[in-house]
Amino acid sequence: MNDPLAPAPNARPQARPRQGLARWRVLWRRWWRQRMGLQDPSRSRAPAWVPIRGLRPRHRPRILAHLLALDAQDRYLRFGYPATDEQIGRYVAELHFERDELFGIFNRRLQLVAMAHLAYAVEPDLSTCAEFGVSVSAHQRGRGLGARLFDHAVVHARNNGVRQLFIHALSENAPMLRIARKAGATVQREGGESEAWLRLPEATLDSQLSGLLQDQAAELDYRLKQQAQGFLRVLAALQEIRQGVREAKRTT
Ligand SMILES: CC(C)(COP(=O)(O)OP(=O)(O)OC[C@H]1O[C@@H](n2cnc3c(N)ncnc32)[C@H](O)[C@@H]1OP(=O)(O)O)[C@@H](O)C(=O)NCCC(=O)NCCS
Repeated sequence: MNDPLAPAPNARPQARPRQGLARWRVLWRRWWRQRMGLQDPSRSRAPAWVPIRGLRPRHRPRILAHLLALDAQDRYLRFGYPATDEQIGRYVAELHFERDELFGIFNRRLQLVAMAHLAYAVEPDLSTCAEFGVSVSAHQRGRGLGARLFDHAVVHARNNGVRQLFIHALSENAPMLRIARKAGATVQREGGESEAWLRLPEATLDSQLSGLLQDQAAELDYRLKQQAQGFLRVLAALQEIRQGVREAKRTT
């Protein structure tokens, strides 16, 4: 069988084959890049399916890290004001996972690279309304992740009886308003701020099934990434032990 990591016949003679952990890291990275459609630099958009996972209270540290990494301008666009670290900390601490829905996209290192907050209205007369908020890490923008999170939130909102989805965005926020308009939202601009309302159709068996399947597949994807991370950690530990034994032999 061909070794995918074997040096090519025309490889430079000084290129040494990778071993142990480094070899597994390369294989894992290669598999991930193929899966994410990144092998060909001309294909910069995200692949047809992106695993979007429901976030839980245990993900708070990852949510915090993702939001704290946003620069001042992005925080302004996301929250409508230049949120400080303390304000972001409070927002994360007060997230209501039982009432609202939070969705995330993780990279292979299980870092949260994009997240969305679907906040269900608490007022009884607005019980069929929800608000959508989203952020994508700067280095992952323009690949369709924001739009995917929006589509995902729409399916969940529909399935939970929401008929009107609200998006508050600054008028300068071209990508967010583009996502909303493309989905068919009515956008009302009031000076520097814009409000977008999207009317949602009632849930169908199809939307219920599609939501369920997406969630199951994303859960499986997350578990595979967790296992891969665990595997790499074990390999790293083994390599350290081997190195220790080798050094001990050398000194005796
Ligand atoms: C808004 C945001 C989530 C968009 O995420 P993204 O993953 O980059 O968005 P997408 O790649 O899905 O692009 C969405 C659309 O906007 C378009 N777009 C992207 N950047 C654009 C720009 N600067 N000007 C105009 N359109 C733009 C894309 O082409 C795409 O349209 P298309 O599907 O017709 O090609 C991201 O910019 C972000 O996190 N900003 C900071 C936080 C924020 O503004 N949140 C929204 C308020 S709640």
